[in-house]
Amino acid sequence: MASPRTLTAATPSIAPPSIRDPVVRLTHWGIAIAVLGNAIVNEGGSLIHVTLGWLAMALLVLRLVWGVLGPAEARFSAFPPNPAAALRHLRQLARGRVGHYPSHNPAGALMVYAFWAALTVVIVTGLILTGGATPMQVAADKAAVASGDWSALIKESDGESSDDEETGLRHTAEEVHEVAANLLLLLAALHVFGVVAEGRAMRRNLVAPMLLGERRK
Ligand code: HEM
Ligand code: HEM
Repeated sequence: MASPRTLTAATPSIAPPSIRDPVVRLTHWGIAIAVLGNAIVNEGGSLIHVTLGWLAMALLVLRLVWGVLGPAEARFSAFPPNPAAALRHLRQLARGRVGHYPSHNPAGALMVYAFWAALTVVIVTGLILTGGATPMQVAADKAAVASGDWSALIKESDGESSDDEETGLRHTAEEVHEVAANLLLLLAALHVFGVVAEGRAMRRNLVAPMLLGERRK
C-alpha cells in the first residue's frame, strides 16, 4: 500500500534514489508496447489492434488510480504540471546542469500528462469507431463474417440518429484517432530523446529503474 513518505515535487534534491514500483513499470512498458504495436505494426481495427487498445485502456486506468493511491513517487502530487518549472528545467538542461527529482522532472511531468491525455483521446475515439465492442465481440463478429453469417452484424437503429450523423461521427472519430495516434508517436520520440539527454546531464541511468525498479546511484 501507499508509503507514508511525502515528496516535494518541484524541489531538486541531491540525487535521491530513483524508484519505480512494479505498477509504474508494468503500466509503462505495457502502454509503450500497445501504442507502438497499434501505431506501427498491426492493422487498425484488427482483433489484435482492439485487444491492445483495451489493454492500454486497462493499464491507463490502473496507472491513474495508482497516481492517487500508489507510493509517494508514483503520485500525481510528486510531479504536478508546472510549465514555468518545466521551462526553467529545460534551460538548465541546455546548460548541461539539471537538478535531481524523486519522481519525474518538471519537463518530463508535462510530457507524461500530454501522453495520458493523447492516449485517452485515442482510446475514446477507438471505442467510438468500434461501437464499444470488446475484443471478444470483435472476434465473434470476424468469425461470423468468415462463416458468411452477416445477420449477426446488423445493428438495430436507435431511431434517433440518422445514417448521415453516424457516418459524420465515425469520420470525425477516425480522423481524430489517427491524428492523436501520430501525436503519441511524436511525443514518444521526444520522450526517448529527453530520457537520453536527461540521463547524460545527470550522469545517471534513468532507464534501469524503469526496467528493474530501483537504482541508488
Ligand atoms: C493504444 C493506442 C492506439 C493507437 C496508437 C492506435 C492507432 C491507430 C492508427 C494509427 C490507426 C489508423 C491506421 C490503420 O488504419 O491501420 C488506427 C485505426 C483504428 N483503430 Fe486504433 N489505435 C489505438 C487504440 C485503439 C482502440 C482502443 C480501439 C478500439 C477499441 C481502436 C480501434 C481502431 C479502429 C476500429 C481503426 C480503424 C479505423 C478505420 O476504419 O479506418 N484503436 N488506430
Ligand atoms: C510509445 C512508447 C512510450 C510511451 C507511450 C512512454 C510513456 C511514458 C510515460 C507515460 C512515463 C511516465 C511513467 C509513469 O509515471 O507512469 C514514462 C516514463 C519513462 N519512460 Fe517512457 N514511454 C515510451 C517509451 C519509452 C522507451 C522506449 C524508453 C527507454 C528509452 C522509456 C523510458 C522511460 C523512462 C526512463 C521513464 C522515467 C523517466 C524519469 O526518470 O522521469 N520510455 N514513459
